[in-house]
Amino acid sequence: MPQPLISSRARPLTGTLRVPGDKSISHRSLILGGLAIGETRIDGLLEGEDILATAAAMRAFGAKLERLGPGEWRVVGRGVGGLEEPADVIDCGNAGTGIRLLMGAAAGQPIATFFTGDGSLRRRPMGRVAAPLAQMGVQIVSREGGRPPLAVIGPETLMPIAYTLPVASAQVKSAILLAGLAAPGETTVIEPKWTRDHTETMLRHFGAEVRVQDLEDGRHITLVGQPDLSARPVIVPADPSSAAFPAVAALLVEGSELTLPGIGINPLRFGLFQTLLEMGADIELTNTRTEAGEPVADLVVRHSRLKGIEVPAERAPSMIDEYPILAVAAAHAEGTTVMRGLEELRVKESDRLTATAKGLASCGVRVDVTGDDLTVYGAANGVPGDATIPVDLDHRIAMAFLVLGMAAESAIAIDDEAAIATSFPGFKELMNHAGAAIAAWAAGG
Ligand code: S3P
Repeated sequence: MPQPLISSRARPLTGTLRVPGDKSISHRSLILGGLAIGETRIDGLLEGEDILATAAAMRAFGAKLERLGPGEWRVVGRGVGGLEEPADVIDCGNAGTGIRLLMGAAAGQPIATFFTGDGSLRRRPMGRVAAPLAQMGVQIVSREGGRPPLAVIGPETLMPIAYTLPVASAQVKSAILLAGLAAPGETTVIEPKWTRDHTETMLRHFGAEVRVQDLEDGRHITLVGQPDLSARPVIVPADPSSAAFPAVAALLVEGSELTLPGIGINPLRFGLFQTLLEMGADIELTNTRTEAGEPVADLVVRHSRLKGIEVPAERAPSMIDEYPILAVAAAHAEGTTVMRGLEELRVKESDRLTATAKGLASCGVRVDVTGDDLTVYGAANGVPGDATIPVDLDHRIAMAFLVLGMAAESAIAIDDEAAIATSFPGFKELMNHAGAAIAAWAAGG
């Protein structure tokens, strides 16, 4: 049964709001913990559905995982090349990151692994991971277009490769590096556009040798294969992609001042905040520090009058998940915001370019999609709202439009809240505690 929600005008958003752990780093900590020798302690793990699916997968591969308390986990790994053949199909749920990284990890043993996922994941392209893995000697059988369900069969010996990424994707890069762990020799990924580097950072943290060189054709990331990974403690920062929602809410709702502690500020993830600062946002970074190799800070965000700007295509990889919420901020800005180079948005949990544009239009905001560029015309007299947005199993579309409702003239509903639990369990309760007015809603009610 779908569970619709409605978001009405919020009171000023105030106080300290604890955003859950980073989704990207959480997936990686469970997978690398499972490939390391010894016991990895993880603190601050995101306990969203995407990550719980990866935890179940790692158990099926024979790693031992135990939850010790909220966000506190212990993983006893099996060593590089030591995963067992899962006895059943691995269900990655909604998680593109989960399936793509696990495909790489599974490839490192001569075992057959069968993967599937929910209706959204089964629509998403996996050929981008299958192509480089096939070059390494892995056999992959999938539905048309590389879509799941699919099987990954690892060879006796993987071949190391040098591979230039045809799309800017940290998931593809990570799948190749995780497979490369089991290959003799050096595996190199060349990325013409830099993408998030959590895999490289964590591989080093667990003792692998990873060299990075910035050359004319892009960043060359070279992993020396067959390392002994040893268990290391991991502290997962709060997710900047999740922090984006309360941050933009605080910018839009008059009188707001929210503190968001311990947010990851890795520059390859920080494009949204850079963009908001350029739009005139009052966002302060304090208490900057490094935890398990990742930079972290506390953010203080205050209500601000934003102005429209042009966001260059080069910035897309550092804020790829944040365009729906940036478009919501742009709807309230003075002037026009142009976001260029959004082709990858079409293959996320939903076609986010279309969902964002259609959703804004139904809330009374003028938008244009030209090729892969999105233009949002700021609604100088306020956003009318008064619409119901289809979520289509996409957590970020759900949260973005609930935030829009907090500052719109009439309330905005979403048709199903379920997807939010994939990345931000407790979103409604945390936002309401800070001053939002999100409630269950019956259609027509
Ligand atoms: C992720 C990479 C990005 C991002 C996703 C998480 C990761 O996907 O959209 O939410 O953890 O590596 P792509 O690799 O498809 O760009």
